[in-house]
Amino acid sequence: MMRNATILVVDDEQLIRWSLAERLRADGYEVVEAPTGQAALDRIADGIDLVLLDYKLPDIDGVTVLRQIKEHDADILVILLTAFATVETAVEAMKIGAYHFANKPFNLDDISLTVSKALETTQLRREVRMLRASQAQPYAFDRIVGESPAMNRLREMLRKVASSPASTVLLTGESGTGKDLAAKVLHFNSQRANRPFVNITCSAIPEALLESELFGHERGAFTDARQQKRGLFEQADGGTVFLDEIGEMVPPLQAKLLRFLEEKAFKRVGGSHDIKVDVRVVAATNRNLEAQVEAGHFREDLFYRLNVLPILLPALRTHLDDLPTLVTFYVDVFNREFRKSVRGASPEALGELRLYGWPGNIREVRNAVERAMLLAEGQWLEPSDFPLLASRRQGAHGIALPAEGVDLEQLERSLVVQALERSGHNQTRAATLLGLNRDQIRYRIEKFGLMKPASPA
Ligand SMILES: Nc1ncnc2c1ncn2[C@@H]1O[C@H](COP(=O)(O)OP(=O)(O)O)[C@@H](O)[C@H]1O
Ligand SMILES: [Mg+2]
Repeated sequence: MMRNATILVVDDEQLIRWSLAERLRADGYEVVEAPTGQAALDRIADGIDLVLLDYKLPDIDGVTVLRQIKEHDADILVILLTAFATVETAVEAMKIGAYHFANKPFNLDDISLTVSKALETTQLRREVRMLRASQAQPYAFDRIVGESPAMNRLREMLRKVASSPASTVLLTGESGTGKDLAAKVLHFNSQRANRPFVNITCSAIPEALLESELFGHERGAFTDARQQKRGLFEQADGGTVFLDEIGEMVPPLQAKLLRFLEEKAFKRVGGSHDIKVDVRVVAATNRNLEAQVEAGHFREDLFYRLNVLPILLPALRTHLDDLPTLVTFYVDVFNREFRKSVRGASPEALGELRLYGWPGNIREVRNAVERAMLLAEGQWLEPSDFPLLASRRQGAHGIALPAEGVDLEQLERSLVVQALERSGHNQTRAATLLGLNRDQIRYRIEKFGLMKPASPA
């Protein structure tokens, strides 16, 4: 039971107020009384948790009072008391948000029980909300690290879409670019933040089960369906469904998803009636869906429906200016996690890391820093703390000699030229790319006459 809950008893009959108040005080609640609708509304801001509300009041009718209470604070529980409830009034009151209907004359034990159950529900609801708020915190917009123009644009776009009524969003980008993160940022910064975020990876669920995972099934829909089951779309009502790897969804299910996106309605597997829910669908793929459409693997109509709001998560190699910031971000993260006090990556390490291709994008940065931090002994992370830099050097041994042979001098010159171009004529970086030290690259620059052209004044 919720301690010190305050209950407002609203009834024009003094005797009813008195008997309710006495019982509820005996149950341990604070009780406030009001003889009219207006008197009730005057008290509603006084930290009321629950209202026992007579349906028939002398001044304002109960439904109107209910509505105004809910407008003031939707968390206040209202139990309506009435001598003559019709089905219609009951339905209307429930729609507005009444918790329960109690018939007059009532039994005090029943009321007492209903009140304690109702308060338990709010208590739970509050706890869930607090939990969700603490969950949401890690997904503020600034969780998306990076100050490059590309990342600023991305954050701006997510900000716009999060607060928009858009019901479908498509996130595209290579693996590790932040699609999962973006989906959560979208959810936890939207009006839907207090409702569920559910997430399913289409490729991780066997084809035969995916439909029932998403849409649920009726009892007996298939051999193992012993009980009716609500699918993810129902569970997420009011919230967000994140469909990861949408490109892996099989065509029959694509058709059902399209219908859902267009009509907001679906049938459970084995079901015959439509179920309506309100969810935002955020789909993600690291595949080129257009190519999938052309190859006949993905429905064109679904692609167009999803592609109304496409958001591209850029590959890290296209915004390498964010690399130092990302490294610092993860150094901080793992300092906290591992109770270390590493100061960052050394300039040499950063220089070399910048030349690495990052096929695994930001996820790879995270993993590389985590690993380096686990093993590092010094205050700064050095190139030797990043094994991916070493394997990159070894990779260069793998160039096969063509059948017609090569001109080694020409080949060497060409590689040095490329390294200089790629590093913006930074000799240290070019040397790293070629596995040379600074003297060795200087020697070759001079040998091939590759001195940096004098920049125009
Ligand atoms: N812009 C970013 N700033 C900080 N961390 C990021 C960023 N983008 C992605 N990450 C992190 O990188 C990892 C991979 O991101 P994720 O969203 O799982 O990528 P994807 O779903 O595209 O494969 C996660 O740990 C995520 O928190
Ligand atoms: Mg992902």
